[in-house]
Amino acid sequence: MKDFGGKLAVITGGGSGMGRALARQLAAEGCDVATCDVLEDNLAETKRLCEQEASQGRVISIHRCDVANEDEVNEFRDAVQSAHNTDHIDLLFNNAGIGGGASFVDGDREEWERTFDICWFGVYYCARAFMPMLRASKDAHMVNTSSVNGFWATLGPRSAHSAYSAAKFAVKGFSEALITDFANNAPHVKVSVVMPGHIGTSIAINSGRIIRGNGGERNLARSRARFQSLGIIEDDATDEDVRELIEQMGRGFRDNAPTSAAQAAAIILDGVREERWRILVGDDAHRLDEMVRAAPEDAYGEGFIEQLREQGQWNIGGSS
Ligand SMILES: NC(=O)c1ccc[n+]([C@@H]2O[C@H](COP(=O)([O-])OP(=O)(O)OC[C@H]3O[C@@H](n4cnc5c(N)ncnc54)[C@H](O)[C@@H]3O)[C@@H](O)[C@H]2O)c1
Repeated sequence: MKDFGGKLAVITGGGSGMGRALARQLAAEGCDVATCDVLEDNLAETKRLCEQEASQGRVISIHRCDVANEDEVNEFRDAVQSAHNTDHIDLLFNNAGIGGGASFVDGDREEWERTFDICWFGVYYCARAFMPMLRASKDAHMVNTSSVNGFWATLGPRSAHSAYSAAKFAVKGFSEALITDFANNAPHVKVSVVMPGHIGTSIAINSGRIIRGNGGERNLARSRARFQSLGIIEDDATDEDVRELIEQMGRGFRDNAPTSAAQAAAIILDGVREERWRILVGDDAHRLDEMVRAAPEDAYGEGFIEQLREQGQWNIGGSS
């Protein structure tokens, strides 16, 4: 697909970050956009921004949908059909995701499964729900967002990252398997897997809102213990200090990234135009991919991280 003008794109997680940037860039190129999110205030802002930038007559629809809930996903699909008065879509960006579910051993099982369900089942349910509408298009493309954690399952030797990585590996494997499946059974539908490095988005802040609820306290004690073990908070720190540190880290993740959400969206859209199935986003993602491929046995050792640090290629703890 060389041109997005006059097409219809469905984007999950369009309220923020790369999803919002994709929606804005596609709208500016004359594409209709249907997007969903669970954070409705963010979603409304995305609609406002898209409508400002969209060419005349384009339809931007927003929908509240939790992608980890199959009934809600099917309702979202039906709502897209009505809002855009169509039986087909041309692009599906399975982008929604959260960070969380660090340790399988010690972590909170509910958080682990919520992270896995959003990052994996969100992609699977949306792919299932929208597949008939992609097939009904003359020329369609499914774009599934994995991560560098879809080929490297860690943030470094001292940080467990199990739910997110397991889900992102699943997204990558599913997408790769669809290449042959589509080639045989729906040759006019293409598929890409997106593997971003560190991108400047509010994912850490949004994940906190989604996992813990607005201002929720469930994991405060766990965060406190983690910060104490890392020596970055005093033993007598108040709950307010812990909350502020969580917020500060979320802002740091957003504000100190080598690649912005807008740059990431432009790279993703170029990859779609060029029909690349494998879209690495950011120099850090390219470097990491090369290093893991060159020495897979070393990928989880201390030396590997040292090598990345020396090259200034990886902001450990700042990755998602
Ligand atoms: N930011 C990074 O460094 C980075 C790196 C690699 C991969 N990714 C992946 O990129 C994708 C986009 O993330 P981002 O960085 O733009 O973060 P973001 O938080 O800015 O955007 C993700 C959006 O998904 C939404 N969302 C979360 N759970 C949802 C659910 N259950 N149903 C519907 N919407 C939901 C969030 O509200 C948010 O608007 C995610 O899949 C993420 O895992 C991000």
